[in-house]
Amino acid sequence: MPEFGIIGGSGLYRIPGLEILEEMTVSTPYGDPSGSFTIGRLSGKEIAFLPRHGAGHTLQPHKINYRANIRGFRQLGVRRLLSVFATGGIRPDLAPGSIVVPDQIIDSTSGRASTFFDQDEVVHIDFTEPFCPMLRNFLGRAAKRAKVDLLCKGTYLCVNGPRLETAAEIRAYALLGADIVGMTAMPEAALAREAGICYAGLSVVTNHAAGISEKKLTVTEVKEVMGSSEERLSSILKDFFMLQFKIPACSCRQTLETARM
Ligand code: HPA
Repeated sequence: MPEFGIIGGSGLYRIPGLEILEEMTVSTPYGDPSGSFTIGRLSGKEIAFLPRHGAGHTLQPHKINYRANIRGFRQLGVRRLLSVFATGGIRPDLAPGSIVVPDQIIDSTSGRASTFFDQDEVVHIDFTEPFCPMLRNFLGRAAKRAKVDLLCKGTYLCVNGPRLETAAEIRAYALLGADIVGMTAMPEAALAREAGICYAGLSVVTNHAAGISEKKLTVTEVKEVMGSSEERLSSILKDFFMLQFKIPACSCRQTLETARM
């Protein structure tokens, strides 16, 4: 059973170097995940990989069945999950190609199914630290080993999309303390926490956010920068999975113990 999972964002539909073992279709009580899971091996670790938007990028961010995706990983046995995001850089120094491991989230999404507990049970998870500190630390170590520049801190503001932002919205998000903007970290991160899965993000800055540079935003740029970042991303992943994972020093797995009313 794969203990590790990777969710691929826009432009990342395969993991270079992943030795593919099998494809698995998983059905969940919440419906179908974005596609089949590729089970493979990287640096000796068994990994389940899922492209978030579907193999042919057919799912819009607000139409992704985040619950089915996270539940699917859990059903496969995954307890540690890395999520790759394409993001816009709000901080002017975060140029296209920068890689950020965010430590905070501001959720500005709406209308997305954002909890597994919307029936009889009342559950309030602690989300003070939305990303697993242990996985973030390991990503930082892996990037050092791989000699890839990485910013190990940053606030990800999650918008609903699918449209990109106005320049005034980006100015407002900067005042709120956001460093990068994207469309998919929520409710993914919260659902992973509810499922007791350690979860961290690797955000590729694919463009300056609206109004930060003179340039108009294009998905061509997003795809190109994601493509040109693939090699650096996969070096980080290769070194990440080489690290020794012992008993988690985080409390992600115990979240529900103190979250039920
Ligand atoms: N805004 C929102 N989502 C994004 C962006 C952006 O500028 N770039 C890539 N995903």
